[in-house]
Amino acid sequence: MDKKVYIESYGCQMNVSDSEVVASILAKDGYTAVNSAEEADLVLLNTCSIREKAEYTVLQRINEMNNLKARKKGLKVGVLGCMAERMREDLLEKKKVVDLVVGPDAYRTLPELLEQVGTGQKAVNVLLSREETYGEIVPVRLDTNGVTAFVTIMRGCDNMCAFCVVPFTRGRERSRDAHSIVDECRDLVAKGYKEVTLLGQNVDSYKWQQKPPVGSEEIASVVDFADLLEMVAVACPILRIRYSTSHPKDMTDKVLEVMARYDNICKYIHLPVQSGSSEVLKRMNRGYDRAWYMERMASIRIHMPTCAISTDIIAGFCGETEEDHSQTLSIIDEVGFDMAFMFKYSERPKTLASRKYADDVPEEVKGRRLQEVIDAQRKASSRRLATYVGQEHEVLIEGVSKRSTEHVYGRNSQNSIVIVPRYAEGVELMPGVIVRVAIEHSTAGSLKGRLLAMIEQQIA
Ligand code: 5AD
Ligand code: SF4
Repeated sequence: MDKKVYIESYGCQMNVSDSEVVASILAKDGYTAVNSAEEADLVLLNTCSIREKAEYTVLQRINEMNNLKARKKGLKVGVLGCMAERMREDLLEKKKVVDLVVGPDAYRTLPELLEQVGTGQKAVNVLLSREETYGEIVPVRLDTNGVTAFVTIMRGCDNMCAFCVVPFTRGRERSRDAHSIVDECRDLVAKGYKEVTLLGQNVDSYKWQQKPPVGSEEIASVVDFADLLEMVAVACPILRIRYSTSHPKDMTDKVLEVMARYDNICKYIHLPVQSGSSEVLKRMNRGYDRAWYMERMASIRIHMPTCAISTDIIAGFCGETEEDHSQTLSIIDEVGFDMAFMFKYSERPKTLASRKYADDVPEEVKGRRLQEVIDAQRKASSRRLATYVGQEHEVLIEGVSKRSTEHVYGRNSQNSIVIVPRYAEGVELMPGVIVRVAIEHSTAGSLKGRLLAMIEQQIA
């Protein structure tokens, strides 16, 4: 009998990508992915631990599963991902509704664990691995627009930023076989996808060693991130390529040179700064200071004058003074980020910061500082996006605008959302087409434009 699984992803893009690996493993075990918990025999929540609020949202959702279970006899509920890793005992002991707890490196064991669950037992595997990359698994695309897809290139993180729980929940860093990444990208092209985002916690430290055949005299060659980008750009000339996330301490000029050389690599870098204060960056254990970040920024602009930069910012980290905070406001202004994800600091168990520093910025001060960061960033985004007005951009259409069925939205190379009329001279713009657009209007969050021409293919 056909079994049905519903997978709900929380948190980062990596979780979305992992859920597609899970769907693939379960497909071999006879499961079909469905779009709602109500239709499913098995509900899996792929969870995030990055901030306390993220965990709280999932805990609420787990409670909701109680009601569903009461209505649907035989329904099984599993928790995957970072919370599985961090809260295994709590989840199994305190949340009766949870049948299954599986960490990010243990998804291959899902079929056996589900067998155990089938006999009425609870099942758990939260072992972390130094090798697992799910390299050869071809993901089953979930909730897809058929146009853009994620491809994971590495897992885990060795950086130990003081605030971050990721090294504890996702384990040590390891890179996936470069050829399997290229194959997956080629497969996406064959299936009609137009854009890929290569994913890793810290893509700049991607390193994969090609071993020579046994007995050969060849020396092992190392593929770094710049090499990988180039391999994908050459193998898939009609695919738009993005990636995330970069780390300021590891981002090399070699990567910038490759980006500049290939038109199909989007001119966009997500480069989390976290704070504008060198003192705070030191306590965060980020491995760079403000001057280093600004130097990297200058190098990006030299290599690619049109490149957009987005960032992550944390307000109210341990020991942050008003002076530190004002330096964060000033770096926002100085860099002029196109976009930013902004957060209040949230202490996470086991992290360096939780062991070493007091979470001493009062909640209301954190809140006020975050608001000031958001206001400063809003101004910076508006300023940046306004510079695009009057330009012509290539836009990959992704779908119909949520606000107006008369419009479609897509993204330019710089990753800003561009809204264009859905119909032009009797032609409807469908997801997947690339169009040349005259940018006519901007806000802090998006651009509006007019269709100039359809583009058959991007030329790399
Ligand atoms: N508190 C607040 N924000 C955090 N981030 C990571 N850990 C924390 C934390 N403990 C933010 C960082 C990171 C992004 C993914 O989440 O800005 O870059
Ligand atoms: Fe966390 Fe730092 Fe690794 Fe990013 S680079 S996942 S912030 S430890």
